[in-house]
Amino acid sequence: MYEQYWGLTEKPFENMPNPDFLYNSQQHEEGLSRLLYIVSEGKGAGLLTGVFGCGKTLLGRTLFKELDRDIYKTAFISNPYLNYEELLMHIAYNLGARDLPRRKQEVLMNVVVERLSEILENNMRDGKKTVVVIDEAHVITDRQVWEELRLLLNFQLENQFMLTLLILGQPELKAIIDSNKQFSQRIAVKFHLGPLTKQQTHEYILHRLKVGGSNKRIFAPATFDLIYKKSGGIPRRINHICDLALFAGFGKNAPMINEALINEVGFDLED
Ligand SMILES: Nc1ncnc2c1ncn2[C@@H]1O[C@H](COP(=O)(O)OP(=O)(O)OP(=O)(O)O)[C@@H](O)[C@H]1O
Ligand SMILES: [Mg+2]
Repeated sequence: MYEQYWGLTEKPFENMPNPDFLYNSQQHEEGLSRLLYIVSEGKGAGLLTGVFGCGKTLLGRTLFKELDRDIYKTAFISNPYLNYEELLMHIAYNLGARDLPRRKQEVLMNVVVERLSEILENNMRDGKKTVVVIDEAHVITDRQVWEELRLLLNFQLENQFMLTLLILGQPELKAIIDSNKQFSQRIAVKFHLGPLTKQQTHEYILHRLKVGGSNKRIFAPATFDLIYKKSGGIPRRINHICDLALFAGFGKNAPMINEALINEVGFDLED
């Protein structure tokens, strides 16, 4: 809509986990390299926590984009609002199982677990590594689900894990995991993402504008600190403010985004 007006080829501040827009802040780079380490070394499980909107899903998606499809078999579970039967079925389906039972009965559950184990064995035999990401895992409060996930890590061959489980979620996830000692002990790497600093917020905005197709000075120098103040350095909030400001500036035929426009979009930390 406003792209042409600002000399952009695409909207730079869409709230989508699009790896093309990744700004490699020190923490995002470190988080990604830890995730890569866990999967390439075939560790059992990893935990990525972080404040809402700080880039967990984006890092998970970026990881999957970087993994060589010839080596890695992957499943990305986005909405784990499921009981344990549904969750295991969902994982099996995402890993390629098609002939799964439909009704949720214990005997059928055994079939799902068997199918999963077959898939993991086949992958291993074919020299493939299996990686399962569970995003938004803080919504899983049912202990039985965690118990089932832990059992998945028991699929091992000659002391090697047959799958790597990456658990992503908001900060309360850490307490949920810690309360399950057996699960917690199997986590090889834990990493936490926080908001960006003031300097990083500035770089983040310029980076996304550049990926969006413009190196021009669209935002006046004084706006960066103001955006940082209003967003608390949280990328999702930064995107929101910048997108609305670009839209408002376009509507007013503004030559540049200035402080008044940022203030006008009326986005504050409480929103
Ligand atoms: N390092 C980054 N580089 C570029 N964009 C980012 C970065 N971190 C976050 N974003 C952007 O911010 C928005 C929110 O990121 P994301 O959805 O990954 O957050 P999240 O931590 O998964 O949040 P939630 O806890 O709500 O699930 C996305 O649009 C994403 O593209
Ligand atoms: Mg997310």
